Amino acid sequence: MRIDIVTIFPGYFGVADAGGRVAESGPLGVSLIGKAAGRGDVDFRVHDLRSWASDVHHTVDDTPFGGGPGMVMKADVWGKALDHVLAAAPVPGAAPARLVVPTPSGRPFTQETAASYAGEGHLVFACGRYEGIDSRLVADARTRMPVDEVSIGDYVLAGGEAAVVVIVEAVCRLLPGVLGNEQSHSDDSFGGTGGAMSGLLEGPVYTRPRTWREHEVPDVLLSGNHRAIARWQRDEALRRTAVNRPDLIRRLAATPEGLGKRDRQVLADAGFPVDAENVAH
Ligand code: ADE
Repeated sequence: MRIDIVTIFPGYFGVADAGGRVAESGPLGVSLIGKAAGRGDVDFRVHDLRSWASDVHHTVDDTPFGGGPGMVMKADVWGKALDHVLAAAPVPGAAPARLVVPTPSGRPFTQETAASYAGEGHLVFACGRYEGIDSRLVADARTRMPVDEVSIGDYVLAGGEAAVVVIVEAVCRLLPGVLGNEQSHSDDSFGGTGGAMSGLLEGPVYTRPRTWREHEVPDVLLSGNHRAIARWQRDEALRRTAVNRPDLIRRLAATPEGLGKRDRQVLADAGFPVDAENVAH
């Protein structure tokens, strides 16, 4: 997979060379993603937006039409940057690149989005700053490629860079071979579709020692009874999801196969009654 990132802060990603390749010490160079990049499974390139500014000050923003606070990033500078990135990086025979614009006004970025991006050949991220990018940039890009405006949560960051790191990490860990153990995905919180934990948050986990500061590992996990362990893990996942994300329980309750009888009993015992049809809570 090829990933291009356009930003006014290339240093944020730890750029190593003039070609925009990332350093081994930067956020994209360490851990599983760094290893995937080292193997050539992901090819990161980071570009400085200011390279496409035409004035001596390398201006990338201007005051908004219609007034209001802050500055807006210029469509002409962004347009040239995108033209260059798309022309320089054709992935032979591949579908057109997908442009991803992180913005608090975008659609929520979810595990499902991450899984679909993991199937793309080429992602181009446009990191906005200030009040965002002139809207004609996205309108123009849509005439030649798929474009997503995505938000990583209901809060406002100072720019898209941190969101790109979040998105790239969520996507790259799903690439074949990156996690090593394919099973690790299916039990993730929000983990995929169809698995035993589908639609629930992940429950608690433990490792040695069995006793730590007088806290014991739950006996069932030491029982060797795999059915009992699986049921306990689902019970715990249900309780945690009910407390932390009641919206996910409501969603599960509304799907035909979402919650079984025992699930409803566990939720009722935990103080989160779910009626047979839907959710009372
Ligand atoms: N840029 C600023 N805030 C953001 C957010 N919540 N998600 C994605 N990009 C952003």
